[in-house]
Amino acid sequence: MARSRSLYRVLAALIAIGISGVDESQTLLLRSRRARQGGSIREHVDGEKSRSWSAVNLTSSSAGLKSWSLDDLAKYLRTGFSPRAGTFGPMNKVIANSTSKLTAGDVRAVATYIKSLPQGGEAATPVTPELMAPGEAIYRDRCQKCHGASGRGGIFTGPPLAGSAIVQAEDPSSLINVILYGAGPSKGISLGAWETMRPYADVLGDSEIAAVANYLRGNWGHHASRVDADLVGKGR
Ligand code: HEC
Repeated sequence: MARSRSLYRVLAALIAIGISGVDESQTLLLRSRRARQGGSIREHVDGEKSRSWSAVNLTSSSAGLKSWSLDDLAKYLRTGFSPRAGTFGPMNKVIANSTSKLTAGDVRAVATYIKSLPQGGEAATPVTPELMAPGEAIYRDRCQKCHGASGRGGIFTGPPLAGSAIVQAEDPSSLINVILYGAGPSKGISLGAWETMRPYADVLGDSEIAAVANYLRGNWGHHASRVDADLVGKGR
């Protein structure tokens, strides 16, 4: 009995994490298979407006959660914060309403399941060095202070961007949103000693945001695809 209840809760949490914008009419099975490798979600903002987000690749691919330990993942799901990343965007609700309510044992079971997923995801045509170059100075001036020249972040400043699944996601919507709108957790969740990331929508133009995104997507051994300024414009 206890076992099946715990299994049910683990499944419910996985479905919550896998909110990947896959068509509602698709079966649960398809939904979860697709969700593991990332996908797109639409979030309603006010009135008619909606915003696109991407769910990260949950597999152990280097563009997914390879750099996350089991402990990192369990801590993130339970508290909204780990040395690898903090929550923002649609994950705020998932963590506040769902995974933070699970027992430590159930969260560990979810994390163990996620860490067992075989590597997966689309092979991208990587951004070229020419496209990456213009973003370097923007990164140095605006981002390096918290995320570090090496992209490894800092205990008192912000999470690592080298190896980040958000940075390398096939659909760059969440990466664009973090830069446009900044990143903050929901109320009651603490990101340790990190500073708050401000929005850059009023500071950087579309092409500057695309440039810095491309710098991140090709640097530190990443092979993610290019981001166009048009897509940044759509995210505003
Ligand atoms: C004042 C410190 C600070 C600065 C400056 C800053 N960030 Fe951040 N950044 C953070 C913090 C803290 C988080 C985690 C926030 C959260 O999870 O709610 C974060 C999160 C991110 C993430 C999500 C990473 C992940 O894997 O979850 C990306 C991408 C990012 N920042 C990119 C940038 C870029 C690009 C710039 C420059 C334009 C920048 N940041 C400037 C502090 C900063």
